[in-house]
Amino acid sequence: MRFDIVTLFPAIFDGYLTQSLLEKAIAKGLVEIHRHDLRDWAADTPHRKVDDRPFGGGPGMLLQVDVTVPCVEDIERMAETPSRKIMLTPQGERFDQRMAEDLALSDRVMLLCGRYEGFDQRVVDILEPEEVSVGDFVLNGGEVAAMTIIDGVVRLLPGVLGDQNSHVDDSFSRGNRLLEFPQYTRPRDFRGHHVPEVLLGGNHEAIAAWRAEQSRIRTKQRRADLLDEEE
Ligand code: ADE
Repeated sequence: MRFDIVTLFPAIFDGYLTQSLLEKAIAKGLVEIHRHDLRDWAADTPHRKVDDRPFGGGPGMLLQVDVTVPCVEDIERMAETPSRKIMLTPQGERFDQRMAEDLALSDRVMLLCGRYEGFDQRVVDILEPEEVSVGDFVLNGGEVAAMTIIDGVVRLLPGVLGDQNSHVDDSFSRGNRLLEFPQYTRPRDFRGHHVPEVLLGGNHEAIAAWRAEQSRIRTKQRRADLLDEEE
């Protein structure tokens, strides 16, 4: 799977791309990540201006349509297959596990990271990206949101996680739209806090039943909205 990231701050991704799971997925050839500096498409060298004030007034700056659209078109021309285009914005559809599972089926995803007050509306009108938000809060730009999406998607790709089942029990994942149950490891007793007895007995049916119940209790307490969603 290939990601193309359009950003004014490609270096933000440096550490993320060279650590742990993502580095391994890239090394194994399961994922390619290409960063594109929007400034490389700015017309007015040497200033390399990419933003301007909004018509009608108001605070902040907008990323220009005449920089962004040619940038995206050039990236599209570099590859054989068209990409699913995602614009990161707090006005977008909320990213969730279902969307991650769906994106993991794509060969190519382009992530457009806004800054300042975002993009000129004509970028949306012309490119028709899917507008996606990672939550009801405002970040300083789309880069952290893009990393969130890459992180959520890459771990679902076959071969990325060591144990192929390790994301099946995850909270929200396919076949389990509830929160994950609590987990314990050694020691069995720490300062009087004991591991629940059922987990130590080796009765797999009882363990599965306990975990299902714990999932349900936790979901009811913390995220009752998820129980409503479950038909
Ligand atoms: N850019 C700024 N805030 C954002 C958010 N919550 N989600 C996605 N992109 C953003």
